[in-house]
Amino acid sequence: MDADRPADYRHGTPSPETPEESPIRPVVLITKPLTRTCVAELERHFVVRTIVGADDPDAVIAAHAGEVRGIAGGKVSAAMIDALPHLEIIANSGVGVDSVDLVAARARDIAVTNTPGVLDDSVAELAIALMLALTRSIPQADRFIRDGEWRNGMYPLRRELRGKAVGILGLGRIGKQIATRLSAMKMDIAYGGRTAQPDQPYPFFSDPVALAERSDWLVVIAPGGKATEKIISREVMAALGPEGCLVNVARGSLVDQPAMIELLQAGKLGGAALDVFDNEPDVPAELLALDNVVVSPHQGSRTEEAREGMGRLVVENLRAHFEGRPLPSRVA
Ligand code: NAP
Ligand code: 8YV
Repeated sequence: MDADRPADYRHGTPSPETPEESPIRPVVLITKPLTRTCVAELERHFVVRTIVGADDPDAVIAAHAGEVRGIAGGKVSAAMIDALPHLEIIANSGVGVDSVDLVAARARDIAVTNTPGVLDDSVAELAIALMLALTRSIPQADRFIRDGEWRNGMYPLRRELRGKAVGILGLGRIGKQIATRLSAMKMDIAYGGRTAQPDQPYPFFSDPVALAERSDWLVVIAPGGKATEKIISREVMAALGPEGCLVNVARGSLVDQPAMIELLQAGKLGGAALDVFDNEPDVPAELLALDNVVVSPHQGSRTEEAREGMGRLVVENLRAHFEGRPLPSRVA
């Protein structure tokens, strides 16, 4: 008998209510690191396989290709989908699904779910932290003391956020949480996107250049993917100007990174605070050499609270799918 099946499977007992009691537990493949609690919950309800930490992930996938019906994690290419003929659902751990090949998933009618809402506060807090770190030079000020420089004189004057104009490109779930916090910090808020939201108290700019022109700060928090690729173009960053600061907590793909580096080097863009980059985890040395830049290792949702919520949604979506219930957060 299959060791993964409960003993009463042999006797053909009627289908119980939850998969943990189910005679045939679906096989789920973990493709990205998940919290310990999430993995334990997955193990409670499913037969779990993983490519995390595997020397040869393709070999693991090939070995389990005949049984995998669900994916928990993300980073799912068309090749991975092709290699898993019984795949029914991809439960992405993350709200952005740009690392999942949605075209390949749709072609096979594979459901894709994400983790909206549970990470909004975490990402918004990081955005504010990055803005404060950049405007008050927190990393440099920390180094100033550690290097013994304070004994030689005071730290240079820096600028407040209060009263400055900030544009938020993408006033969605996270963008709204950022706006609430920036409003409490007495900033003058406007936003960009494809559609105006008449219920919002802030002015709307459909053109990113126009949004940048009226902004001292531009915070980018729209989805990645083809539609937004390099939406923060050289022209947008030039419009932000020598005193202007760019904050990217969305995806590296939204910003023309080489143009951003050139403008920062030339003093035509005032500063940048970045949680996301092209080709993570590689961050160009030219960027790291700049003092008007604060960097962060894609940690917007890396809080215990957000990860707990994300893990819960991953499990809930998989359970709902295999129990035949509506999916809590289906995106495709
Ligand atoms: P959301 O609620 O769907 O909001 C997305 C916003 O972006 C909407 O206001 C939307 O407005 C705008 N938008 C969508 N497509 C656009 C386009 N083509 N051009 C301009 N604006 C567009 O999403 P969310 O939950 O706030 O998450 C936003 C993104 O944050 C995610 O997709 C992910 O990439 C990123 N994120 C990053 C981290 C991190 O660790 N740094 C963590 C979580 C999420 P319109 O519909 O009006 O265009
Ligand atoms: C994750 C994210 O860090 O939700 C998103 O879109 O960017 C983050 O929550 C990302 O999915 C990588 O694991």
